[in-house]
Amino acid sequence: MLNIPPGVTPTPDTDSAPSAGSRFAEFLHRESKVPLPGATFAPAITPTSVYAMPGDPAGPYQYGRWSNPGWTALEGALGALEDAEAIIFPSGMAAVSAVLATGLRPGDRLLLQSDGYGGTRAAAAKFLAPMGVQVDTCATAQLAGQPLETYRLVLLETPANPCLDLVDLRATARRVRAGGGRLVIDNTLMTPLGQRPLDLGADAVLYSDTKILNGHSDVIFGHVCTRDSDLLGRIEEWRRIGGAIPGPFETWMVQRGLETLELRVARLNENALAVARALAAHAGPLSVVYPGLETHPDHALARAQMHGFGSLICLTLRDRDEAEAFIDGCRFLRAQTSFGGVHSSAERRARWGDPVDAGFIRLAVGCEPTEALRAEIIRAMDAVVERR
Ligand SMILES: Cc1ncc(COP(=O)(O)O)c(C=O)c1O
Repeated sequence: MLNIPPGVTPTPDTDSAPSAGSRFAEFLHRESKVPLPGATFAPAITPTSVYAMPGDPAGPYQYGRWSNPGWTALEGALGALEDAEAIIFPSGMAAVSAVLATGLRPGDRLLLQSDGYGGTRAAAAKFLAPMGVQVDTCATAQLAGQPLETYRLVLLETPANPCLDLVDLRATARRVRAGGGRLVIDNTLMTPLGQRPLDLGADAVLYSDTKILNGHSDVIFGHVCTRDSDLLGRIEEWRRIGGAIPGPFETWMVQRGLETLELRVARLNENALAVARALAAHAGPLSVVYPGLETHPDHALARAQMHGFGSLICLTLRDRDEAEAFIDGCRFLRAQTSFGGVHSSAERRARWGDPVDAGFIRLAVGCEPTEALRAEIIRAMDAVVERR
């Protein structure tokens, strides 16, 4: 059964692409005119635990757990992308933990998605609930009917991963704020180029930079961005005192990955749309879900609040064996978890206990040349149908 009507040819939201593109051009050249002759453009890696500090403590660099010139450079870049201030962390989960730990006290209520990233739910259930925080979950599709005004913190992703339902960011921010709570968005799937939750009313955004931001599947990293100086101060204090600090080399690698973010995101979006359309028109999948398809229930919202539709596609095959055979049989799909790298990958999400069918695959497109990727995925899907 296909879920795309004949004759429908969805198109990406190209109207907003020029403004995102010119923003990135400004970003790339934000410091080009500043350096003195002979200065390097690439930031230095500074592996040090101590800094010269005679007399009374003074200056921005005093001890390696508190600051590092590489952090300053990367936080400047990440903040510039979001028109906000950034604090970096050694993983996406360290960024999640900082937001949870600084935003909640015993007696507060926290709302998470039941169909969002499982690591966030695990952190809340294992560490916050025993300390007296009331942790509630709600399916993304039910959020519109969920009272939000009683929550101190609402932490959501959109699209929700892995099923790709969307959250209306502007409406949700208004409802959370009406009760005096804070809305934080995990924007990992979309990147700052694909979605700007702070502009739509969110109090903070956080990322697993392990995924698209670094983009090369070789670093675990994360960050938080906010325009709220009080929140920023608490999160910085959490890192400085708590000690969850990024290493200088990993910091430099993320800075390097960031330089090509716009190129990679454009290719990811192009590849995902081409592959989703081709799979939706194929007899193999029982269903194909991608926000860029007009058949997606939140397609209109996707066009309104996202620039491009992201790199994840959900498809369902008949059963576990068929799904495994498809992944194994496609030369351009790595069998791995995670997403956002240069190489396309896929996995059956039921293997992690997600409440999805046994044949449900999360396909994460990479940056391969579009037509070669599309053709190989369709060849592998043809083989699945032939075996039936
Ligand atoms: C949406 C999302 N947020 C947060 C995380 C956690 O990031 P990390 O693995 O970098 O700690 C992940 C990891 O898969 C993720 O997919």
